[in-house]
Amino acid sequence: MKILITAGPTREPIDPVRFLSNRSSGRMGYALARAFARLDHQVLLISGPTSLEIPDRVDFIPVESAQQMFDAVAHSITGYDVAIFCAAVADYRPATVASQKIKKHEEQLTITLIKNPDILGSARSIMGFSGYLVGFAAETEHLEAHAREKLLRKSCDMIIANDVSQDGIGFDSTHNQVWLIEAEENTALPLDTKEHLAHHLAAIIEQRAGQKTKMNSR
Ligand code: PMT
Repeated sequence: MKILITAGPTREPIDPVRFLSNRSSGRMGYALARAFARLDHQVLLISGPTSLEIPDRVDFIPVESAQQMFDAVAHSITGYDVAIFCAAVADYRPATVASQKIKKHEEQLTITLIKNPDILGSARSIMGFSGYLVGFAAETEHLEAHAREKLLRKSCDMIIANDVSQDGIGFDSTHNQVWLIEAEENTALPLDTKEHLAHHLAAIIEQRAGQKTKMNSR
């Protein structure tokens, strides 16, 4: 199967030396890319800036901003069987980017933010993706309800939801604990290393995507 994965944070420039970003390390998405490559799938990893090594036998497109990630996904996604959106994409970016480093003359500085494109939310509607679509959900409350709302609103087959308010899991940690939210059921997976969890998730997604392909070809 051909698997597209987004990972890492995006960086939204303010001026030539400053940006808005978040604490995503890329570990979860890179572990998934490695797990699918080990299962002999063809993997494309589209990643924001991280300090991680590019996994072996994985095609790689580096990006910085949400708009660049959107463009890379839109350009590549046709023909993929599975798309997994693990990146922590900045929802907003500065409305204007200063061409010179902003000087600290003022006591207060206001930066107007505008909305970034929703990459996962565009996969079906704008990019016409018809394969098995997996989103992540980073929640701090009502995890299952909020993740199910994302499953429906973004027309996903599965949402992998993590509670990012808990210490030791989610952003920039070696471990994670996730819920799988699917049309018929919610399933809690046990706390695990991201590396081991990724193998578990890859096996489940491989099976579900295979089922979807079979049903669509009937
Ligand atoms: O990178 P690590 O340090 O290993 O941490 C892993 C993680 C916590 C980043 C990962 O497990 C995770 O939860 N990723 C999704 C983070 C997120 O932005 O969640 P969200 O609930 O805000 O977004 C929902 C979904 O829409 C996600 O699939 C996201 O990739 C996607 N999205 C969001 C905004 C946007 N503009 N475009 C998108 O595609």
